[in-house]
Amino acid sequence: MKNDFVDYKLLQEQIQNLAKEDSWFVPLFSNACALIMQTIPALNWAGFYIVKNGDLVLGPFQGELACIHIKKGKGVCGTALETNNTMLVPNVHLFSGHIACSALSKSELVVPLRKNGNVCAVLDLDSPQKNRFSESDKIEFEKIAQILESSVEFNSSF
Ligand code: SME
Repeated sequence: MKNDFVDYKLLQEQIQNLAKEDSWFVPLFSNACALIMQTIPALNWAGFYIVKNGDLVLGPFQGELACIHIKKGKGVCGTALETNNTMLVPNVHLFSGHIACSALSKSELVVPLRKNGNVCAVLDLDSPQKNRFSESDKIEFEKIAQILESSVEFNSSF
């Protein structure tokens, strides 16, 4: 939101510190989306979808109940997976194929996380305001995605 100052540098340092504490995706993604939700104004949903068998499955999130499975190429998240690109959608109602998990969401920013160049998860941010995300939000969240992807581990030793 243009008028609200967000200290992205601090947010990025905090996420780096979370990754140092535990790099397993459950605690790391859980606390990362909690931190994002409490730091970034005007969000109704912040969370992760994880790549599983080539499609997306719901991971840690904050917000309303969400779709569990998203096919590659479907919706904003599935398009980020298919294209391996950040998706900044100023008005979801103008995005063909948008998956309306929550009627509240009006704009979205979806940033891929990669391992060896392949998407391993996406960070999905939804806002109840149209045009919520700027180019500078996109750049700062791409830095956050880089911090997360360079540390996160998906395997456990159970
Ligand atoms: N709206 C997303 C689906 C996920 S929910 O917003 C949590 C999409 O179209 O990819």
